[in-house]
Amino acid sequence: MISKKVADRINLQIEREMESAFLYLAMASRMTDEGYEGLAAWLTIQYHEEMFHAMKFARYLQDRDASFEVPGIPKQELKESSVKAVFERVLAHEQKVTASINELYELALAEKDYPTQVLCQWYINEQVEEEKNAEEILRNLALLGDSKQGTFMLNIELGKRKPSIPLDFTEIGEND
Ligand code: FEO
Repeated sequence: MISKKVADRINLQIEREMESAFLYLAMASRMTDEGYEGLAAWLTIQYHEEMFHAMKFARYLQDRDASFEVPGIPKQELKESSVKAVFERVLAHEQKVTASINELYELALAEKDYPTQVLCQWYINEQVEEEKNAEEILRNLALLGDSKQGTFMLNIELGKRKPSIPLDFTEIGEND
């Protein structure tokens, strides 16, 4: 049985993952409005990945006989006025999520909750990928400079992204 302290902290993490999902969905909508369908497709896959992260935690809570509390997610405001600013926010956001996962891992260590430690290791690895993806996009944008043509090329490239996770949450299993 999982402790209430750890279960509450995982529910908080679920809220943060869902906030990430809705932030990326808001960004995807903005990119569509601006005509960048490829960037919108990339961000929509990111939305699905964040929901997967949330639901993987939810399934874990249920497997350990604890409740998953569905959070209320506030509207995600976007003030960024350029593609570069949007992806800078993606990176800054992922760095915050990494810190939050690390904090959960530290709690699991302090509580001697070994299964939660093992689960957190999956997320710790995932965050390396998440930060790397955002950094790569920013590096490419820096190489392209302010050129609209370059941003459009990146839009085509990122539009080729394929989901790396099952989009059907009923498929969440131990090996994901
Ligand atoms: Fe769930 Fe992008 O971290």
